[in-house]
Amino acid sequence: MNEEKLKQIRSFQIRHGIISRSPLVAKIIGTILEIAETDISVLITGESGTGKEVFAQALHNASKRKNNKIIAVNCAAIPESILESELFGHEKGSFTGAQAQRKGYFEMADGGTIFLDEIGEMPLSVQVKFLRVLETKEIMRVGSEQSVKIDVRIVAATNIPLEKAVAKGKFREDLFYRLNTIRLKLPPLRHRKEDIPLLADFFINSFAKQNDIDFTGMTKEAYLALMEYGWQGNVRELKNVLESVTVLERNNLVTPEIVRNYLPKDKIFSQNANLPVHTGKSPEQAEREIIYRMLLSLRSEIAEIKSLVLKKESVISQEGDFSTAIVPFSNLSNLPEINLPVATPSENRTKEEEISRLQDLSNFSVISDAEDVRPIDELIKDEIYKALRITNQNRRKASKMLGISERTLYRKIDEYEKNDK
Ligand SMILES: Nc1ncnc2c1ncn2[C@@H]1O[C@H](COP(=O)(O)OP(=O)(O)OP(=O)(O)O)[C@@H](O)[C@H]1O
Ligand SMILES: [Mg+2]
Repeated sequence: MNEEKLKQIRSFQIRHGIISRSPLVAKIIGTILEIAETDISVLITGESGTGKEVFAQALHNASKRKNNKIIAVNCAAIPESILESELFGHEKGSFTGAQAQRKGYFEMADGGTIFLDEIGEMPLSVQVKFLRVLETKEIMRVGSEQSVKIDVRIVAATNIPLEKAVAKGKFREDLFYRLNTIRLKLPPLRHRKEDIPLLADFFINSFAKQNDIDFTGMTKEAYLALMEYGWQGNVRELKNVLESVTVLERNNLVTPEIVRNYLPKDKIFSQNANLPVHTGKSPEQAEREIIYRMLLSLRSEIAEIKSLVLKKESVISQEGDFSTAIVPFSNLSNLPEINLPVATPSENRTKEEEISRLQDLSNFSVISDAEDVRPIDELIKDEIYKALRITNQNRRKASKMLGISERTLYRKIDEYEKNDK
């Protein structure tokens, strides 16, 4: 990948809050940069928690539709009986309870993007109608004979392999091919372990800032322990674990032993999974911590439920997850090309390979990049994009935050947009 392209990718990451140094992710962003301006439909696949929604939002924000809405619809969460009318709308009296005409999500997203999450769960009856919308760019409200033209970019996501759903007859093959033209395949976290320390730093700093915590720090070995874990729940799981660690271990220098206390015992390092881990804590302390942890996980569940309820309106909050976060990855645009041995699932490695890989990893300093000196202009650019993201692209608020005039901000953005082209 040439340097210019990599620079564009890093700049995209900073603008859209995507933390990664993985070449797999860089390649995906490269594709997004190619297609963002077009109207082509996109299918995002990846295990749960890999960032499908983050990428859908970034794709929308990078498109010419960014000033219009992105409407997120979870196809698995809406009962089959009402999904069609939710998507395409209905006329008054078209079914019992349809007291007034109602616009569907496609019409609400006109001019913008519709994000169809868990598309694999869309019932076959709705798939037929959806395929027709894709082909004709028209929708028909339930109970209406008349079609309505719509201009909507379609982004679909799934964490179940659609090929399998097709083979089982649960997903239409023609629809699959129609959606599959551009596919962004998000790799699981265990295939991009080099992202783990970066994400870890990002989450720790965010939680510390949000909760006014003076976090002591983590040893290099603790980062390695994080990198060795399988993260079946991907970035979401990492985020939850680090939230607990940041809050509960604020006064300790976090070691691998401490990290392991926060990981499900049956999934850590298979060779010593059965050994009891000495925590050095009294039963009372241990019990108190379990209760704290349950409270924390309850808190994050409540936060998720809250965001689901907000999404009932089905509009992804433009502020995303990063609204209150400080961004300790301001060195992102400066990241070197990847130099870590990655992307081989650990089960395929020999013991020797594993040892040499770990040695390589331990030569990798998590903080060394942060000590690099960066050109002032780059720092300014990062802060500008950060302020824009935090203020949901509100230039007036962003300029206040930055302590510059709105006109200077406009001029800068204009300059960056020209240079990024
Ligand atoms: N590259 C990334 N940088 C920063 N945060 C990320 C990144 N990828 C994911 N996240 C965070 O991880 C969490 C899970 O991401 P997201 O909701 O987009 O996953 P998903 O693939 O849609 O999951 P699911 O299939 O369960 O819906 C979110 O809090 C998101 O902000
Ligand atoms: Mg999702």
